[in-house]
Amino acid sequence: MVVRVFRRFFPLARVNKGQMPPQKLNSDATAGLSARQAESTAFVYIAAAFAALGGLLFGYDTGVISGALIFIQKNFSLSVFHQELVVSVVLVGAAVASLTGGRLADQIGRRMNLALTSVIFILGAIICAAARSEVTLILGRTIVGIGIGLASATVPLYISEVSPAKARGWQVSLFQLAITIGILAAYLVDYAFAQSEQWRWMLGLAVIPGAILGLGTLYLPETPRWLVKNGQGEKALGVLRKIRGTQSVEEEFREIQDAASRSEERGQWSDLLKASIRPALIVGIGLAVFQQVTGINTVIYYAPQIIRSAGISSASGAILATAGIGAVNVIMTLVSMWLIDRVGRRILLLTGIAGMAVTLGILGFIFRESASAHDAAFGQLAVITLMAYVAFFAISLGPIFWLLISEIYPLKVRGSAEGTAASSNWAANFVVSLTFLTLVEKFGPTWTFWLYGVLSIAAWVFSYKLVPETKGRTLEEIEAFWHRDKSDA
Ligand code: BGC
Repeated sequence: MVVRVFRRFFPLARVNKGQMPPQKLNSDATAGLSARQAESTAFVYIAAAFAALGGLLFGYDTGVISGALIFIQKNFSLSVFHQELVVSVVLVGAAVASLTGGRLADQIGRRMNLALTSVIFILGAIICAAARSEVTLILGRTIVGIGIGLASATVPLYISEVSPAKARGWQVSLFQLAITIGILAAYLVDYAFAQSEQWRWMLGLAVIPGAILGLGTLYLPETPRWLVKNGQGEKALGVLRKIRGTQSVEEEFREIQDAASRSEERGQWSDLLKASIRPALIVGIGLAVFQQVTGINTVIYYAPQIIRSAGISSASGAILATAGIGAVNVIMTLVSMWLIDRVGRRILLLTGIAGMAVTLGILGFIFRESASAHDAAFGQLAVITLMAYVAFFAISLGPIFWLLISEIYPLKVRGSAEGTAASSNWAANFVVSLTFLTLVEKFGPTWTFWLYGVLSIAAWVFSYKLVPETKGRTLEEIEAFWHRDKSDA
Protein backbone atom coordinates (compact mmCIF):
# COMPACT_ATOMS: atom_id res chain seq x y z
CA MET A 1 0.00 0.00 0.00
CA VAL A 2 2.72 2.46 1.07
CA VAL A 3 4.70 1.42 -1.96
CA ARG A 4 1.68 2.03 -4.22
CA VAL A 5 1.27 5.57 -2.86
CA PHE A 6 4.97 6.18 -3.37
CA ARG A 7 4.85 4.89 -6.91
CA ARG A 8 2.02 7.32 -7.62
CA PHE A 9 3.91 10.36 -6.42
CA PHE A 10 7.35 9.28 -7.51
CA PRO A 11 6.85 7.44 -10.79
CA LEU A 12 10.00 6.76 -12.70
CA ALA A 13 11.02 9.71 -14.81
CA ARG A 14 11.52 9.21 -18.51
CA VAL A 15 15.05 9.64 -19.77
CA ASN A 16 15.25 12.70 -21.94
CA LYS A 17 17.91 11.83 -24.41
CA GLY A 18 17.57 15.06 -26.35
CA GLN A 19 18.18 17.47 -23.53
CA MET A 20 21.84 18.21 -22.98
CA PRO A 21 22.53 21.19 -20.79
CA PRO A 22 26.03 22.62 -20.40
CA GLN A 23 28.42 20.18 -18.78
CA LYS A 24 26.22 17.41 -20.13
CA LEU A 25 27.19 13.81 -19.86
CA ASN A 26 28.43 12.08 -22.91
CA SER A 27 25.57 10.14 -24.40
CA ASP A 28 27.85 7.92 -26.44
CA ALA A 29 29.51 6.66 -23.31
CA THR A 30 29.17 2.92 -22.76
CA ALA A 31 25.39 3.04 -23.02
CA GLY A 32 23.20 0.09 -22.16
CA LEU A 33 19.55 0.83 -22.29
CA SER A 34 18.57 -1.97 -20.02
CA ALA A 35 20.40 -0.39 -17.12
CA ARG A 36 18.81 2.97 -17.78
CA GLN A 37 15.38 1.47 -18.15
CA ALA A 38 15.60 -0.71 -15.07
CA GLU A 39 12.60 -0.32 -12.81
CA SER A 40 12.19 0.09 -9.08
CA THR A 41 10.71 -2.80 -7.18
CA ALA A 42 9.05 -2.72 -3.79
CA PHE A 43 12.26 -4.26 -2.51
CA VAL A 44 14.33 -1.24 -3.57
CA TYR A 45 11.85 1.16 -1.99
CA ILE A 46 12.07 -0.71 1.29
CA ALA A 47 15.86 -1.05 1.19
CA ALA A 48 16.24 2.67 0.45
CA ALA A 49 13.79 3.61 3.20
CA PHE A 50 15.62 1.50 5.77
CA ALA A 51 18.99 2.88 4.79
CA ALA A 52 17.57 6.39 4.97
CA LEU A 53 16.99 5.87 8.71
CA GLY A 54 20.66 6.80 9.00
CA GLY A 55 19.56 10.24 7.80
CA LEU A 56 16.82 10.40 10.42
CA LEU A 57 19.41 9.82 13.14
CA PHE A 58 21.69 12.42 11.54
CA GLY A 59 18.90 15.03 11.62
CA TYR A 60 17.63 14.06 15.05
CA ASP A 61 21.01 14.02 16.76
CA THR A 62 22.17 17.32 15.28
CA GLY A 63 18.81 19.01 15.95
CA VAL A 64 18.00 17.72 19.43
CA ILE A 65 20.81 19.42 21.31
CA SER A 66 19.48 22.97 20.87
CA GLY A 67 16.50 22.23 23.13
CA ALA A 68 18.31 19.86 25.49
CA LEU A 69 21.30 22.06 26.24
CA ILE A 70 19.57 24.43 28.69
CA PHE A 71 18.61 21.51 30.94
CA ILE A 72 21.96 19.73 30.63
CA GLN A 73 23.62 22.97 31.58
CA LYS A 74 21.40 23.24 34.65
CA ASN A 75 22.06 19.64 35.63
CA PHE A 76 25.84 19.67 35.33
CA SER A 77 26.46 23.43 35.77
CA LEU A 78 28.44 23.34 32.54
CA SER A 79 30.91 26.07 31.73
CA VAL A 80 30.50 27.84 28.38
CA PHE A 81 33.45 25.84 27.04
CA HIS A 82 31.85 22.54 28.07
CA GLN A 83 28.56 23.62 26.49
CA GLU A 84 30.36 24.35 23.25
CA LEU A 85 32.05 20.96 23.46
CA VAL A 86 28.75 19.12 24.01
CA VAL A 87 27.41 20.74 20.83
CA SER A 88 30.48 20.63 18.62
CA VAL A 89 32.17 17.28 19.39
CA VAL A 90 29.41 15.74 17.30
CA LEU A 91 30.58 17.70 14.27
CA VAL A 92 34.24 16.85 14.88
CA GLY A 93 33.38 13.15 15.38
CA ALA A 94 31.34 13.23 12.16
CA ALA A 95 34.13 14.91 10.17
CA VAL A 96 36.68 12.29 11.21
CA ALA A 97 34.33 9.31 10.90
CA SER A 98 33.01 10.23 7.46
CA LEU A 99 36.55 10.48 6.12
CA THR A 100 37.54 7.05 7.38
CA GLY A 101 34.02 5.62 7.06
CA GLY A 102 33.92 6.16 3.30
CA ARG A 103 37.08 4.12 2.87
CA LEU A 104 35.71 1.52 5.27
CA ALA A 105 32.62 1.23 3.05
CA ASP A 106 34.95 0.38 0.16
CA GLN A 107 36.72 -2.22 2.29
CA ILE A 108 34.09 -4.02 4.39
CA GLY A 109 31.09 -3.19 2.19
CA ARG A 110 28.19 -0.75 2.32
CA ARG A 111 25.92 -3.08 4.27
CA MET A 112 28.40 -3.91 7.02
CA ASN A 113 29.13 -0.21 7.36
CA LEU A 114 25.42 0.46 7.86
CA ALA A 115 25.23 -2.25 10.52
CA LEU A 116 28.21 -0.74 12.30
CA THR A 117 26.58 2.69 12.07
CA SER A 118 23.45 1.47 13.85
CA VAL A 119 25.45 -0.13 16.69
CA ILE A 120 27.41 3.10 17.19
CA PHE A 121 24.23 5.19 17.19
CA ILE A 122 22.63 2.97 19.83
CA LEU A 123 25.75 2.99 21.99
CA GLY A 124 26.10 6.78 21.74
CA ALA A 125 22.43 7.39 22.61
CA ILE A 126 22.60 5.12 25.67
CA ILE A 127 25.82 6.71 26.97
CA CYS A 128 24.37 10.22 26.52
CA ALA A 129 21.07 9.35 28.21
CA ALA A 130 22.79 7.67 31.16
CA ALA A 131 25.68 10.15 31.57
CA ARG A 132 26.46 11.08 35.17
CA SER A 133 29.23 13.54 34.36
CA GLU A 134 30.03 16.01 31.64
CA VAL A 135 33.00 13.91 30.55
CA THR A 136 30.75 10.88 29.92
CA LEU A 137 28.27 13.09 28.11
CA ILE A 138 30.97 14.51 25.86
CA LEU A 139 32.18 10.95 25.18
CA GLY A 140 28.62 9.90 24.30
CA ARG A 141 28.21 12.87 21.96
CA THR A 142 31.51 12.03 20.26
CA ILE A 143 30.28 8.49 19.64
CA VAL A 144 27.00 9.86 18.25
CA GLY A 145 29.09 12.08 15.96
CA ILE A 146 30.99 9.02 14.71
CA GLY A 147 27.63 7.38 13.92
CA ILE A 148 26.46 10.46 12.02
CA GLY A 149 29.72 10.61 10.07
CA LEU A 150 29.47 6.95 9.09
CA ALA A 151 25.84 7.40 8.08
CA SER A 152 26.63 10.39 5.90
CA ALA A 153 29.42 8.49 4.16
CA THR A 154 27.43 5.30 3.62
CA VAL A 155 23.69 5.89 3.23
CA PRO A 156 23.67 7.95 0.00
CA LEU A 157 26.24 5.55 -1.45
CA TYR A 158 24.17 2.50 -0.59
CA ILE A 159 20.94 3.88 -2.04
CA SER A 160 22.66 5.18 -5.14
CA GLU A 161 24.12 1.74 -5.87
CA VAL A 162 20.85 -0.16 -5.55
CA SER A 163 18.55 2.34 -7.30
CA PRO A 164 17.82 2.25 -11.02
CA ALA A 165 19.19 5.29 -12.89
CA LYS A 166 15.75 6.72 -13.62
CA ALA A 167 14.76 6.95 -9.97
CA ARG A 168 18.14 7.44 -8.33
CA GLY A 169 17.55 11.15 -7.77
CA TRP A 170 14.54 10.89 -5.52
CA GLN A 171 15.60 7.63 -3.91
CA VAL A 172 18.95 9.01 -2.74
CA SER A 173 17.12 12.17 -1.67
CA LEU A 174 15.22 10.00 0.81
CA PHE A 175 18.38 10.50 2.88
CA GLN A 176 17.87 14.28 2.91
CA LEU A 177 14.14 13.82 3.55
CA ALA A 178 15.00 11.66 6.54
CA ILE A 179 17.45 14.32 7.80
CA THR A 180 14.73 16.98 7.66
CA ILE A 181 12.20 14.70 9.38
CA GLY A 182 14.82 13.95 12.03
CA ILE A 183 15.36 17.67 12.64
CA LEU A 184 11.61 18.31 12.88
CA ALA A 185 11.16 15.32 15.21
CA ALA A 186 13.97 16.68 17.39
CA TYR A 187 12.27 20.09 17.65
CA LEU A 188 8.99 18.39 18.63
CA VAL A 189 10.58 16.00 21.13
CA ASP A 190 12.48 18.91 22.72
CA TYR A 191 9.20 20.78 22.99
CA ALA A 192 7.39 17.77 24.48
CA PHE A 193 10.00 17.16 27.19
CA ALA A 194 10.81 20.81 27.90
CA GLN A 195 8.19 21.19 30.65
CA SER A 196 9.55 18.24 32.60
CA GLU A 197 13.17 19.12 31.72
CA GLN A 198 13.86 15.48 30.79
CA TRP A 199 16.90 15.93 28.61
CA ARG A 200 17.89 12.26 29.04
CA TRP A 201 14.77 11.24 27.13
CA MET A 202 15.52 13.81 24.45
CA LEU A 203 18.93 12.26 23.78
CA GLY A 204 17.99 8.65 24.55
CA LEU A 205 15.05 8.33 22.15
CA ALA A 206 17.51 8.06 19.25
CA VAL A 207 17.89 4.40 20.32
CA ILE A 208 14.60 3.57 18.58
CA PRO A 209 15.50 4.51 14.96
CA GLY A 210 19.02 3.17 15.66
CA ALA A 211 17.59 -0.23 16.55
CA ILE A 212 15.24 -0.23 13.53
CA LEU A 213 18.20 0.54 11.26
CA GLY A 214 20.13 -2.31 12.90
CA LEU A 215 17.30 -4.78 12.34
CA GLY A 216 16.94 -3.53 8.77
CA THR A 217 20.57 -4.24 7.97
CA LEU A 218 19.98 -7.92 8.76
CA TYR A 219 17.74 -8.03 5.69
CA LEU A 220 19.34 -5.45 3.40
CA PRO A 221 21.41 -6.96 0.58
CA GLU A 222 24.96 -5.77 -0.17
CA THR A 223 24.98 -3.58 -3.28
CA PRO A 224 25.63 -5.40 -6.59
CA ARG A 225 28.35 -2.89 -7.47
CA TRP A 226 30.37 -3.52 -4.33
CA LEU A 227 29.94 -7.29 -4.77
CA VAL A 228 31.21 -7.18 -8.35
CA LYS A 229 34.15 -5.03 -7.35
CA ASN A 230 35.00 -7.57 -4.67
CA GLY A 231 34.86 -10.65 -6.87
CA GLN A 232 31.41 -11.89 -5.88
CA GLY A 233 29.80 -11.78 -9.32
CA GLU A 234 27.35 -14.65 -8.76
CA LYS A 235 26.01 -13.08 -5.60
CA ALA A 236 25.80 -9.69 -7.35
CA LEU A 237 23.70 -11.21 -10.12
CA GLY A 238 21.33 -12.70 -7.57
CA VAL A 239 20.94 -9.35 -5.77
CA LEU A 240 20.42 -7.53 -9.04
CA ARG A 241 17.62 -9.94 -10.00
CA LYS A 242 16.01 -9.45 -6.63
CA ILE A 243 16.14 -5.65 -6.58
CA ARG A 244 15.09 -5.28 -10.23
CA GLY A 245 12.36 -7.89 -9.90
CA THR A 246 13.34 -9.62 -13.17
CA GLN A 247 15.68 -12.35 -14.41
CA SER A 248 16.91 -10.26 -17.36
CA VAL A 249 19.53 -8.11 -15.74
CA GLU A 250 22.50 -9.36 -17.79
CA GLU A 251 23.08 -6.09 -19.58
CA GLU A 252 23.16 -4.00 -16.44
CA PHE A 253 25.36 -6.66 -14.83
CA ARG A 254 27.80 -6.50 -17.75
CA GLU A 255 28.06 -2.72 -17.50
CA ILE A 256 28.86 -2.95 -13.82
CA GLN A 257 31.49 -5.59 -14.58
CA ASP A 258 32.99 -3.42 -17.32
CA ALA A 259 33.26 -0.44 -15.00
CA ALA A 260 34.75 -2.59 -12.25
CA SER A 261 37.28 -4.22 -14.58
CA ARG A 262 38.56 -0.83 -15.71
CA SER A 263 40.27 -0.73 -12.34
CA GLU A 264 41.21 -4.14 -11.04
CA GLU A 265 42.93 -3.15 -7.87
CA ARG A 266 41.33 -1.44 -4.89
CA GLY A 267 41.43 2.36 -4.97
CA GLN A 268 44.00 4.26 -2.91
CA TRP A 269 43.73 7.72 -1.37
CA SER A 270 46.27 8.91 -3.96
CA ASP A 271 43.83 7.89 -6.75
CA LEU A 272 41.59 10.77 -5.73
CA LEU A 273 44.11 13.16 -7.25
CA LYS A 274 44.30 11.41 -10.63
CA ALA A 275 43.34 13.44 -13.69
CA SER A 276 40.09 11.54 -14.30
CA ILE A 277 38.89 11.83 -10.69
CA ARG A 278 40.14 15.30 -9.73
CA PRO A 279 37.30 17.26 -11.39
CA ALA A 280 34.68 15.15 -9.60
CA LEU A 281 36.59 15.57 -6.35
CA ILE A 282 36.53 19.35 -6.78
CA VAL A 283 32.79 19.31 -7.48
CA GLY A 284 32.12 17.20 -4.38
CA ILE A 285 34.30 19.17 -1.98
CA GLY A 286 33.16 22.50 -3.44
CA LEU A 287 29.49 21.65 -3.02
CA ALA A 288 30.20 20.30 0.47
CA VAL A 289 31.71 23.58 1.58
CA PHE A 290 29.13 25.74 -0.20
CA GLN A 291 26.27 23.75 1.34
CA GLN A 292 27.49 24.93 4.73
CA VAL A 293 29.03 28.37 4.20
CA THR A 294 25.78 29.63 2.73
CA GLY A 295 24.48 29.50 6.29
CA ILE A 296 21.82 26.77 6.52
CA ASN A 297 22.81 25.58 9.96
CA THR A 298 22.79 29.03 11.48
CA VAL A 299 19.04 28.79 10.84
CA ILE A 300 18.66 25.13 11.79
CA TYR A 301 20.65 25.43 15.04
CA TYR A 302 19.91 29.02 16.05
CA ALA A 303 16.44 29.74 14.61
CA PRO A 304 14.80 30.73 17.93
CA GLN A 305 17.58 33.23 18.69
CA ILE A 306 17.45 34.71 15.17
CA ILE A 307 13.68 35.05 15.31
CA ARG A 308 13.73 36.66 18.73
CA SER A 309 16.39 39.14 17.74
CA ALA A 310 14.25 40.13 14.74
CA GLY A 311 11.46 41.25 17.05
CA ILE A 312 9.27 38.27 18.09
CA SER A 313 9.62 38.50 21.83
CA SER A 314 7.77 35.45 23.20
CA ALA A 315 9.75 32.22 23.58
CA SER A 316 6.77 30.08 22.57
CA GLY A 317 6.24 32.20 19.44
CA ALA A 318 9.89 31.65 18.52
CA ILE A 319 9.62 27.88 19.11
CA LEU A 320 6.44 27.68 17.02
CA ALA A 321 8.08 29.60 14.19
CA THR A 322 11.08 27.26 14.43
CA ALA A 323 8.81 24.22 14.07
CA GLY A 324 7.24 25.96 11.06
CA ILE A 325 10.69 26.34 9.49
CA GLY A 326 11.35 22.62 10.16
CA ALA A 327 8.06 21.73 8.45
CA VAL A 328 8.87 23.87 5.40
CA ASN A 329 12.21 22.05 5.18
CA VAL A 330 10.43 18.66 5.05
CA ILE A 331 7.73 19.72 2.60
CA MET A 332 10.10 21.40 0.15
CA THR A 333 12.44 18.40 0.24
CA LEU A 334 9.46 16.33 -0.92
CA VAL A 335 8.87 18.84 -3.72
CA SER A 336 12.50 18.55 -4.73
CA MET A 337 12.26 14.74 -4.76
CA TRP A 338 9.26 14.99 -7.03
CA LEU A 339 11.13 17.22 -9.45
CA ILE A 340 14.66 15.87 -9.34
CA ASP A 341 14.35 13.01 -11.86
CA ARG A 342 12.01 15.06 -14.04
CA VAL A 343 13.73 18.43 -14.48
CA GLY A 344 17.25 17.34 -13.54
CA ARG A 345 19.78 18.32 -10.89
CA ARG A 346 21.29 21.45 -12.44
CA ILE A 347 18.14 23.45 -12.91
CA LEU A 348 16.97 22.79 -9.36
CA LEU A 349 20.40 23.54 -7.96
CA LEU A 350 20.79 26.83 -9.83
CA THR A 351 17.24 28.00 -9.08
CA GLY A 352 17.50 27.12 -5.41
CA ILE A 353 20.90 28.75 -4.84
CA ALA A 354 19.73 31.92 -6.62
CA GLY A 355 16.72 31.99 -4.27
CA MET A 356 18.99 31.53 -1.27
CA ALA A 357 21.16 34.48 -2.33
CA VAL A 358 18.11 36.73 -2.76
CA THR A 359 16.45 35.75 0.52
CA LEU A 360 19.71 36.20 2.45
CA GLY A 361 20.00 39.68 0.95
CA ILE A 362 16.44 40.50 2.05
CA LEU A 363 17.09 39.07 5.53
CA GLY A 364 20.05 41.42 5.91
CA PHE A 365 17.82 44.39 5.04
CA ILE A 366 15.12 43.29 7.48
CA PHE A 367 17.65 43.16 10.31
CA ARG A 368 19.03 46.56 9.31
CA GLU A 369 15.59 48.17 9.40
CA SER A 370 14.41 46.36 12.53
CA ALA A 371 17.42 47.68 14.47
CA SER A 372 16.11 51.25 14.19
CA ALA A 373 12.33 50.64 14.25
CA HIS A 374 11.17 48.12 16.87
CA ASP A 375 8.12 46.78 15.13
CA ALA A 376 6.72 43.24 15.46
CA ALA A 377 6.05 43.28 11.71
CA PHE A 378 9.79 42.90 11.14
CA GLY A 379 9.79 39.73 13.21
CA GLN A 380 7.03 38.26 11.04
CA LEU A 381 8.78 39.35 7.88
CA ALA A 382 11.99 37.74 9.11
CA VAL A 383 10.18 34.44 9.76
CA ILE A 384 8.64 34.44 6.27
CA THR A 385 12.02 35.22 4.68
CA LEU A 386 13.76 32.53 6.75
CA MET A 387 11.11 30.05 5.59
CA ALA A 388 11.67 31.07 1.96
CA TYR A 389 15.44 30.70 2.41
CA VAL A 390 15.04 27.22 3.89
CA ALA A 391 12.61 26.31 1.08
CA PHE A 392 15.20 27.27 -1.55
CA PHE A 393 17.88 25.27 0.28
CA ALA A 394 15.54 22.28 0.53
CA ILE A 395 14.98 22.10 -3.22
CA SER A 396 18.63 22.51 -4.07
CA LEU A 397 21.83 22.33 -2.03
CA GLY A 398 20.17 20.18 0.67
CA PRO A 399 19.35 17.01 -1.27
CA ILE A 400 21.44 17.62 -4.38
CA PHE A 401 24.77 17.77 -2.57
CA TRP A 402 24.22 14.34 -0.98
CA LEU A 403 22.89 12.98 -4.25
CA LEU A 404 25.75 14.18 -6.44
CA ILE A 405 28.46 12.90 -4.13
CA SER A 406 26.88 9.46 -4.29
CA GLU A 407 26.81 9.35 -8.08
CA ILE A 408 29.71 11.31 -9.57
CA TYR A 409 32.65 9.17 -8.41
CA PRO A 410 34.08 6.07 -10.09
CA LEU A 411 33.32 2.77 -8.37
CA LYS A 412 36.95 2.15 -7.49
CA VAL A 413 37.14 5.11 -5.10
CA ARG A 414 33.45 5.84 -4.57
CA GLY A 415 33.45 5.30 -0.81
CA SER A 416 36.66 7.20 -0.12
CA ALA A 417 35.72 10.07 -2.40
CA GLU A 418 32.23 10.41 -0.97
CA GLY A 419 33.72 10.23 2.51
CA THR A 420 36.10 13.06 1.64
CA ALA A 421 33.22 15.25 0.47
CA ALA A 422 31.09 14.36 3.51
CA SER A 423 34.00 15.10 5.81
CA SER A 424 34.58 18.50 4.18
CA ASN A 425 30.88 19.19 4.74
CA TRP A 426 31.19 18.44 8.47
CA ALA A 427 34.37 20.48 8.79
CA ALA A 428 32.68 23.47 7.12
CA ASN A 429 29.62 22.94 9.32
CA PHE A 430 31.89 23.06 12.38
CA VAL A 431 33.53 26.32 11.29
CA VAL A 432 30.20 28.03 10.49
CA SER A 433 28.48 26.87 13.70
CA LEU A 434 31.40 28.03 15.79
CA THR A 435 31.77 31.43 14.14
CA PHE A 436 28.13 32.47 13.62
CA LEU A 437 27.48 33.99 17.03
CA THR A 438 30.85 35.74 17.03
CA LEU A 439 30.17 37.19 13.56
CA VAL A 440 26.77 38.45 14.68
CA GLU A 441 28.32 39.99 17.78
CA LYS A 442 31.15 41.70 15.88
CA PHE A 443 29.49 42.73 12.62
CA GLY A 444 25.76 42.43 13.36
CA PRO A 445 23.18 40.11 11.70
CA THR A 446 22.87 42.28 8.58
CA TRP A 447 26.48 41.89 7.47
CA THR A 448 26.58 38.27 8.60
CA PHE A 449 23.62 37.32 6.38
CA TRP A 450 25.01 39.39 3.53
CA LEU A 451 28.27 37.47 3.85
CA TYR A 452 26.33 34.19 3.44
CA GLY A 453 24.50 35.85 0.52
CA VAL A 454 27.77 36.67 -1.26
CA LEU A 455 28.96 33.10 -0.66
CA SER A 456 25.69 31.89 -2.23
CA ILE A 457 26.51 33.88 -5.36
CA ALA A 458 29.92 32.17 -5.43
CA ALA A 459 28.14 28.80 -4.97
CA TRP A 460 25.91 29.61 -7.96
CA VAL A 461 28.85 30.43 -10.24
CA PHE A 462 30.68 27.29 -9.08
CA SER A 463 27.64 25.10 -9.78
CA TYR A 464 26.94 26.75 -13.13
CA LYS A 465 30.48 26.17 -14.32
CA LEU A 466 31.35 22.79 -12.85
CA VAL A 467 28.37 20.66 -11.84
CA PRO A 468 27.35 18.09 -14.49
CA GLU A 469 23.80 16.95 -15.20
CA THR A 470 23.48 13.33 -14.10
CA LYS A 471 19.74 12.83 -14.52
CA GLY A 472 18.80 9.48 -16.04
CA ARG A 473 22.41 8.32 -16.51
CA THR A 474 23.70 5.09 -15.04
CA LEU A 475 26.56 5.29 -12.58
CA GLU A 476 28.70 3.58 -15.21
CA GLU A 477 27.88 6.26 -17.82
CA ILE A 478 28.74 8.97 -15.34
CA GLU A 479 32.05 7.23 -14.67
CA ALA A 480 32.80 7.09 -18.38
CA PHE A 481 32.05 10.81 -18.67
CA TRP A 482 34.88 11.78 -16.31
CA HIS A 483 37.26 9.44 -18.13
CA ARG A 484 36.69 11.08 -21.52
CA ASP A 485 39.89 12.58 -22.95
CA LYS A 486 41.72 11.99 -19.67
CA SER A 487 44.73 9.74 -19.34
CA ASP A 488 45.18 8.95 -15.69
CA ALA A 489 48.34 10.74 -14.76
C1 BGC B 1 22.94 19.40 5.70
C2 BGC B 1 22.83 19.63 7.17
C3 BGC B 1 21.60 20.46 7.46
C4 BGC B 1 20.38 19.84 6.84
C5 BGC B 1 19.18 20.75 6.96
C6 BGC B 1 21.68 18.72 5.22
O1 BGC B 1 21.77 18.48 3.85
O2 BGC B 1 24.07 18.60 5.40
O3 BGC B 1 24.00 20.25 7.63
O4 BGC B 1 21.41 20.58 8.85
O5 BGC B 1 20.58 19.56 5.48
O6 BGC B 1 18.06 20.21 6.34
